Amino acid sequence: MADQYAQLDWDEQGQPSSRQYDDVYFSRENGLEETRYVFLDNNELPRRFAALSSGEQLVIGETGFGTGMNFLCAWQLFVQQAPAGARLHYVSVEKHPLSAADLQRTLALWPSLQAYSQQLLGAYRGLNPGFQRLLFDDGRVVLTLLIGDAVAMLPQLDARIDAWFLDGFAPSKNPEMWTPELFAQLARLSAPGTTLGTFTATGYVRRALIEAGFAMKRVPGLGKKWEVMCGTFTGTASSQAKPWFARPADRHTQRSALVIGAGLAGCATAASLAKRGWQVTVLERHGAAAQEASGNPQGVLYLKLSAHGTALSRLIVDGFGYTRRLLERLHKGQDWDDCGVLQLAFDEREAQRQAKLAAAFPTTLLTPLERSQAERQAGIALASGGLFYPDAGWVHPPALCAQLLDHPGIRLHYHQEALGLKRVDEQWQALNGDQLLAAAPVVVICSAADTLRFEQSAHLPLKRIRGQISRLPASQRSAALSTVVCAEGYVAPVRQGEHTLGASFNFDSDDLTPSSVEHASNLHLLQEISSDLVERLEADKLDPESMQGRVAFRCTSPDYLPIIGPLADAEQFAQAYAVLARDARQVPSIPCPWQEGLYINSGHGSRGLITAPLSGELIAAWLGSEPLPVPSDVAEGCHPNRFMLRQLIRKG
Ligand SMILES: Cc1cc2nc3c(=O)[nH]c(=O)nc-3n(C[C@H](O)[C@H](O)[C@H](O)COP(=O)(O)OP(=O)(O)OC[C@H]3O[C@@H](n4cnc5c(N)ncnc54)[C@H](O)[C@@H]3O)c2cc1C
Ligand SMILES: C[S@@+](CC[C@H](N)C(=O)[O-])C[C@H]1O[C@@H](n2cnc3c(N)ncnc32)[C@H](O)[C@@H]1O
Repeated sequence: MADQYAQLDWDEQGQPSSRQYDDVYFSRENGLEETRYVFLDNNELPRRFAALSSGEQLVIGETGFGTGMNFLCAWQLFVQQAPAGARLHYVSVEKHPLSAADLQRTLALWPSLQAYSQQLLGAYRGLNPGFQRLLFDDGRVVLTLLIGDAVAMLPQLDARIDAWFLDGFAPSKNPEMWTPELFAQLARLSAPGTTLGTFTATGYVRRALIEAGFAMKRVPGLGKKWEVMCGTFTGTASSQAKPWFARPADRHTQRSALVIGAGLAGCATAASLAKRGWQVTVLERHGAAAQEASGNPQGVLYLKLSAHGTALSRLIVDGFGYTRRLLERLHKGQDWDDCGVLQLAFDEREAQRQAKLAAAFPTTLLTPLERSQAERQAGIALASGGLFYPDAGWVHPPALCAQLLDHPGIRLHYHQEALGLKRVDEQWQALNGDQLLAAAPVVVICSAADTLRFEQSAHLPLKRIRGQISRLPASQRSAALSTVVCAEGYVAPVRQGEHTLGASFNFDSDDLTPSSVEHASNLHLLQEISSDLVERLEADKLDPESMQGRVAFRCTSPDYLPIIGPLADAEQFAQAYAVLARDARQVPSIPCPWQEGLYINSGHGSRGLITAPLSGELIAAWLGSEPLPVPSDVAEGCHPNRFMLRQLIRKG
């Protein structure tokens, strides 16, 4: 797939225009002024930001992110007007993002926005097609970029928008951004009172917006522009969510939550909630965070993608972007490295799979390399070329956990093992026998496969898979390895004098002691990756009996998607929706029997580094009335109710 970047031309004043659309990104005469007038003032944002109370949010939707200037102006105004505890969500769709270099050049035009544009530039990476979430001001300002065509992306959005900015180039230059189909999506995402501002006053656009349910008004424009338009949605709010995927109605006035488990999923959940003003207590049975699956010395940002755009593949692209942006705050070289990941085309089948991926994804995410190019990239001799993910690399997961936990709203209680949960007086109590460990109105179970020990979540089909990594002492010659290389296994460049080689899959053992058999099988994986590296490490002389390693359990679900979201009562669910066994197309209007305040975040399998950080944002969105950070079908694909639903339908 060709790069999706915008193609720009620059005029003598250094202002950009789009070569693809032959139009300007903003008014040449008065860019900032026009943005403030058309989008901020016409949506009454100065007043509406000031009227927010602490804990409230305002959600802006935009068609055409472009240079981000509208976003930066809205963010600046929000900071100037809104009270400290209020939050801004900005959701914007963009088919052709600017390259980082073009963005930097454009934003240099606005010195008054520098404090904001520097932050945008700092986070502007990993923006591959899909839903890309970026956090600013410690999560007070949340940007969700939908990278793709507006008509394809907006139907995937689950959000309630308060104010729209319609900014997709002039209707005459880009009629696709001004169609009844697209306006129907705006209406679907609006509620009575949602407002809209746009720079165009074109008649057919006005009529189509009125048709979609917006009361439209022409208002004077600025400069050369005679008129612009603003509007208010007067239609009815639509709710199409099936009851089992609808958001639980409980409103959490007391923002206090318990998180059980301090692995990547628990730490990410705690971080996303704390950023939203929740007081979070994390219970962890060990004496430190990241002692189980999230405790390996090096984990790999390994993207196992599908060319068919499956829910899992899209979650991986979205999650990769989110994790990748988080890593920028860690110590490079020590806690992570963006050295790239090379997936070898180790047999004919894999080579064919990779060719399909290369056709389906942009080269910013992955590039096919011939053997000689791959060898240059990796610094060692290889048996084949492969797919190179230039922005990926390795991470020390405990460092990522520590970073996520570093928030004044999070309290960590070590050596606290929750053995049971009980709902008493609108609080969840975490108990160890008779001992009350902690209580809060909301609990999020992030205890990997130990989720099954709680009767409230025992129905979930989670499985443990033992995995062992081997630690290989680096040699002078192995230090040449300059990227992660994967075949069936993976090996990472040196960290603190060692390479991590992984990992075995053992479905039958519950034992946590490293085994020499699995060290031997890891060495076999290394041999498949590169016999040159085997030689450089003198790995053929290693005795598996005396090798060092680490064992932990992955926790997987039958469809390999994680399990993230609110939990229903299994028995009541089966009763409420029994009719599905007879007719799977029925959507009974019976509210889902939620277990109030109970949520789960588990099943991250062998790709938790990619899916777990973003899962915290998804939990926080389920708990509030925020835009979901992933497409709605991906959120449903991760929903805890999916298994009960499938079981009911299968019975029929
Ligand atoms: C060998 C191996 C190699 C891997 N390699 C990679 C890789 O290269 N890339 C990648 O992306 N992923 C990799 N993974 C997967 C990744 O590590 C996991 O997906 C991720 O760590 C899961 O995080 P988690 O928080 O769900 O689980 P965990 O990290 O296991 O955390 C669960 C936590 O809950 C605590 N807990 C459980 N029950 C209770 C209770 N009742 N009370 C209190 N605390 C409790 C546990 O002590 C633990 O700290 C690998 C996994 C393994 C095992
Ligand atoms: C006028 S510019 C937006 C300016 C922007 N709001 C700003 O602040 O710089 C219009 C944007 O819409 C994008 N666009 C055009 N057609 C699109 C489509 N069908 N789907 C999504 N984005 C599209 C263009 O790539 C361009 O970035």
